[in-house]
Amino acid sequence: SIPVDNVQALASKDLKDVPVRYIRPDIEAEEVLADDLFQIPVIDVSKLNDAGQPGYDDELVKLHIACRDWGFFQLINHGVSETIDAMKKVTEEFFKLPLEEKMKCAQLPNTIEGYGQAFVVSDEQKLDWGDMLFLLPLPISLRNLRFWPQNPNSFRKTLEEYSKTLHGVSMQLFKLISINLGIEPEAIGKMFENCTQGIRMNYYPPCPEARKVLGLAPHSDATGLTLLVQVNEVQGLQIKKNSKWVPIKPIPGSIIVNVGDVLEILSNGEYNSIEHRAVVDFEKERLSIAAFHSPGLGAMIGPLPELVKEKTHKYKTIDVQDYLKLIINSKLDGKCLIDHMKI
Ligand code: SIN
Ligand code: FE2
Repeated sequence: SIPVDNVQALASKDLKDVPVRYIRPDIEAEEVLADDLFQIPVIDVSKLNDAGQPGYDDELVKLHIACRDWGFFQLINHGVSETIDAMKKVTEEFFKLPLEEKMKCAQLPNTIEGYGQAFVVSDEQKLDWGDMLFLLPLPISLRNLRFWPQNPNSFRKTLEEYSKTLHGVSMQLFKLISINLGIEPEAIGKMFENCTQGIRMNYYPPCPEARKVLGLAPHSDATGLTLLVQVNEVQGLQIKKNSKWVPIKPIPGSIIVNVGDVLEILSNGEYNSIEHRAVVDFEKERLSIAAFHSPGLGAMIGPLPELVKEKTHKYKTIDVQDYLKLIINSKLDGKCLIDHMKI
């Protein structure tokens, strides 16, 4: 990985010209569909607590359609607002700290954890207009506290609670998804009980060339499920739908959930891991927090046997170690991870 400039520091210099490495000449011409009515489904998870309650069946169908036709949805009435609000607060406080203070948590050569920028593999590669703090809270046994901020002083305690709470939300979703796929309710969840959880706090400074840069280049998530929260009211997430970019309008307080590559593979393509990106604003900073949930070490990644039976397997089956290697290799060759897994 090649170290690059801190973007927050760069943006604070009141630049006249944004360095050419951030400028993506082609993106201005890409079509963005700004239609308020064309939005990802909203799932009221309070209706999904038990099968007997009113509205359960309808909401479960909505969830199935969301995973199948959109790969993205917003979760409301999740009951974990307090934990989310606390996490948003310490995240904002962390990025407000002076650079030297944030650098106490800096990435080291060849670590993915810590404060810094997205993985850069070549000197020619275009750069993202954003900084991040990436941590791996789960499994607990592999926590690297040296990258966990102690400033603000409630950061570690807050992240610990956030990690546990969001893992819980993802486990509830894995159960509902298993039911929707017609398999044992615990079938998917048991692969994620000892999950690897990554939490990525994103900071996108304002940019004078906001329409020519990206906060986060287009990608699909290599995870099972990603749970994303918007820290402030500045929008920026866009998803690819029918070859066009669709801006997501987050409902305040909601959790934006997306199906990752692993869930696409487990479901043998029934569900889709959708390409998405983050754009930035001319004047306002934007912050978000993504929680990634991937199967624990030892799991096999491939179409679920009970789901495929006599049907054709559309993806290979490999173990988690080989899957992790594929993630790195697909970054190096610029190919989509899922393409490497397709049969
Ligand atoms: C992502 O993590 O892919 C999206 C992040 C964001 O919306 O800022
Ligand atoms: Fe993503």
